[in-house]
Amino acid sequence: MQNSNWSRRSVLKTTGASLLAMAAGSSTAHAAQSANDHPGPLPGDANREERMRWWKAARFGMFIHFGLYSTIGRHEWVMEDEGIPVSEYAPHAAAFHPRVGSPREWARLARLAGMRYMVLTTKHHEGFCNFDTKLTTYCAPRQGPGRDVVREYVEAARAEGLRVGFYYSLMDWHHPDGALCATSEESRKRFVDYTHGLIRELLTNYGKIDVLWYDVAWPLDADGWQSVKMNEMVFQLQPEIIVNNRNKLPGDFSTPEQHITAETGGRAWEACMTLNDSWGYQAADDNWKTAKTIIRNLITCARDSGNYLLNIGPREDGSIPEPSSRVLHQVGEWMAINGHSIYDSDPCQVRRSNYASFTRTGNTLYMHVHFWPGRYVAIAGLMTKVKSARLVKTGQTVPFVQDDFRVRFTDLPLEAPDDPVTTIAIECDAEPRQDTDYVRKNKPRMGV
Ligand code: GLC
Repeated sequence: MQNSNWSRRSVLKTTGASLLAMAAGSSTAHAAQSANDHPGPLPGDANREERMRWWKAARFGMFIHFGLYSTIGRHEWVMEDEGIPVSEYAPHAAAFHPRVGSPREWARLARLAGMRYMVLTTKHHEGFCNFDTKLTTYCAPRQGPGRDVVREYVEAARAEGLRVGFYYSLMDWHHPDGALCATSEESRKRFVDYTHGLIRELLTNYGKIDVLWYDVAWPLDADGWQSVKMNEMVFQLQPEIIVNNRNKLPGDFSTPEQHITAETGGRAWEACMTLNDSWGYQAADDNWKTAKTIIRNLITCARDSGNYLLNIGPREDGSIPEPSSRVLHQVGEWMAINGHSIYDSDPCQVRRSNYASFTRTGNTLYMHVHFWPGRYVAIAGLMTKVKSARLVKTGQTVPFVQDDFRVRFTDLPLEAPDDPVTTIAIECDAEPRQDTDYVRKNKPRMGV
């Protein structure tokens, strides 16, 4: 059941727009610019490198899914997945009472975990706006919360020294034009005005915003959403902002979801992931990842120059489920000691080991041992000369022996010195490079 739900979602996400456009035929014809037809550079192309600098160094961010679904506690897709009518779902808005101060708790936890930025759902697919808007009364100040939750979040993130991101779902299950826009040109125009209008408010009323994280473009394509115009407005309002690729334009970075897949050709990417199996609060979901899994994932992202956006789904009062908080504290303890091997690291070519993974900064190779074998560890086919090595946790120098085929780090403690992953910083005389083919081909065979 879960599988068919997910595949349906991904179909909606990837092909929904084109299927609907086909079904709608000429009724979707309009004068919007097309991303493909767009001559010359797209908005944001000119100063991308400069805008992305802090983000690339940051590596680790907190995603927060918070909305009316948090009051129900059955996942953020509950409205659609349980077929709940708008008339039955909307009253949850009046019963939504996040505690004042909870965004500050999220931000504090993010900072302690070693995260450098946050991305909050300002409006998820359910259509409820966590912010103040002139365009709908289905928003936090005019419903249960009685105040602008997004403002509180922005202030909290800044107070904890974190960059501020806004998630915004284009798909909307509440707005009368949310589906009709695919088949009626009049409705599309209204809905695009509404959408651009909400984004304009978000990027006008809260000072400098660092990331805009679009989501699900169903049921329109880039033409239908007028995505080029949308991004032009975004960059005009926030010249230094970073935008993702989910309004059907390439944007600044790709967004692999629930898996870690590096982009090629130097394009930026960010893997987003849940801590259990739900983005929004789901009381019964107990499938929590361990701190070790999170740290290993973060290392994998950093190795290939990607970011890791890790989610929390607070309860309706804004409190953070205890397993999330526990795991993030553990991650934070590790980051306090090992963070320098993650932030602003360079792409790392070395990757082969059955008990460790790697990151790199300049000529320093970081060997992150997640299954501690005791006594010694080894790397095969390291083609670069090692100059010295030390345990990051204790600062202790690690003796080593290197020949053409392997380097062995010896005299290590029997028990892992750090938990849940022990890092060895290995100074090399050039950029570390591994060639295990060389080992396979050239290591002397029996009797040779
Ligand atoms: C998917 C889901 C959505 C979640 C998002 C996070 O698009 O539909 O619920 O917010 O992924 O990346």
